Amino acid sequence: MQRAYRASLLWFAEPDSGPEGIRFEEDGLLVVGPDVHGQQVVQAIGSWHALSAQYSRLAVEHLPGRIIAPGFVDMHVHFPQTHVIGSPAAGLLPWLENYTFPEEQRFADPAYAADAATFFVDELLRNGVTTALAFATSHSSSVDALFAQARARHMRLITGLCLMDRHAPAALLNQPGQGTSAAEQSILESEALIQRWHGQDRLGYAITPRFAPTSTDAQLRGAGELAARYPDVWIQSHVAENKDEIAWARELFPKSSSYLATYADFGLLRERSVYAHCIHFDDADRALMRESGAVAAISPTSNLFLGSGFFDYAGADRVGFGYGLASDVGGGTSFSPFHTMLAAYYVGREGHTKTGLSLTPRQLWWQHTAGAARALGLDGVVGNLLPGCEADFIVLNPQATPLLARKTALCASLDELLFSFIVLGDDRAVERTVIAGAQ
Ligand code: GUN
Ligand code: ZN
Repeated sequence: MQRAYRASLLWFAEPDSGPEGIRFEEDGLLVVGPDVHGQQVVQAIGSWHALSAQYSRLAVEHLPGRIIAPGFVDMHVHFPQTHVIGSPAAGLLPWLENYTFPEEQRFADPAYAADAATFFVDELLRNGVTTALAFATSHSSSVDALFAQARARHMRLITGLCLMDRHAPAALLNQPGQGTSAAEQSILESEALIQRWHGQDRLGYAITPRFAPTSTDAQLRGAGELAARYPDVWIQSHVAENKDEIAWARELFPKSSSYLATYADFGLLRERSVYAHCIHFDDADRALMRESGAVAAISPTSNLFLGSGFFDYAGADRVGFGYGLASDVGGGTSFSPFHTMLAAYYVGREGHTKTGLSLTPRQLWWQHTAGAARALGLDGVVGNLLPGCEADFIVLNPQATPLLARKTALCASLDELLFSFIVLGDDRAVERTVIAGAQ
């Protein structure tokens, strides 16, 4: 069935131009309908004036004063850390030990995991996030719980079993099987999950070593071998977030030339590998990212909250590796892409005095939509509303709050409008989230 919407429209009409390809149509028409596989995709987008005659037989839903925009893409978020948001700690390692590991242990209970998965997916959608690359816990049942919830909503979601076979509470480590070590068993379970879920509906699997310090050499080697056998699955992990973490990783893997290089040494840097944070890099690390095709999930609310540091946008652009934005809940403080974009703006400003960099609102928006999709290898699939893209979109209300209404009424340019949402927006501005064309 085809559906048509008349509203203001925001999309990237020329994605090869990056953020500068952004387009805003004050009075637009969006038509969605099935493609040859029955998937709901965008069939047409443009001005009402240009398109309405062609689609005159369709009943049009008119949304005056509303803006239809691509659903947001969250490149790194932890589904079992919803309750961990706002847990204060001196830094990453005590935060993991005192709050995160104890909470993740609760996911051994499938009922707890199922309830958390329902809330988590609801929260993503309420905030306008329609695609996410998410960590689960080290329990296979937590992966099943999240995939099942996402499939029930027909949502595009990528997740995987958290691999950790040392340096965490025993109850949170991957368990050995009958005649197999914990490392071997965790890889067998990951492969079983790939076969059960990867490519089902809109779901994807990510091989998920938590970070190098919580895996043995054997587990990282097994993960790299698995990744080589399944080149179209994703890889996700953390790197170079915090100075103490880096010192620990260097101590544990002294033969590698850097913390990032540890992952390369085990076959875990390639296309479709997504590394959260990537803060404390040198140019050799940046070049390794670029050459391997690995990308960064920039997590600014988390980095500010945990005092981890500031992603170096100028360094990334100088060397030329890919990146996009992420909430990193629960190190991150919000599910809202608006909050994440605002924090990214602050982070970009931090480098301003050194580099003259100041991110524009269209760059921020790109990094959380089409740019993030591109970094995930999902260019032209999600994060945009070009014809052929899957029909995931949000309806924004510029009058959602009294202040937003005042501010947006005064906007004289697209950048001012985008900035109003970035600075003043939150879940209240997202009036509706449409997944695969369904209301
Ligand atoms: N490094 C290893 N595990 C984690 C985690 O759960 N959150 C963050 N921010 N960094 C990590
Ligand atoms: Zn994380």
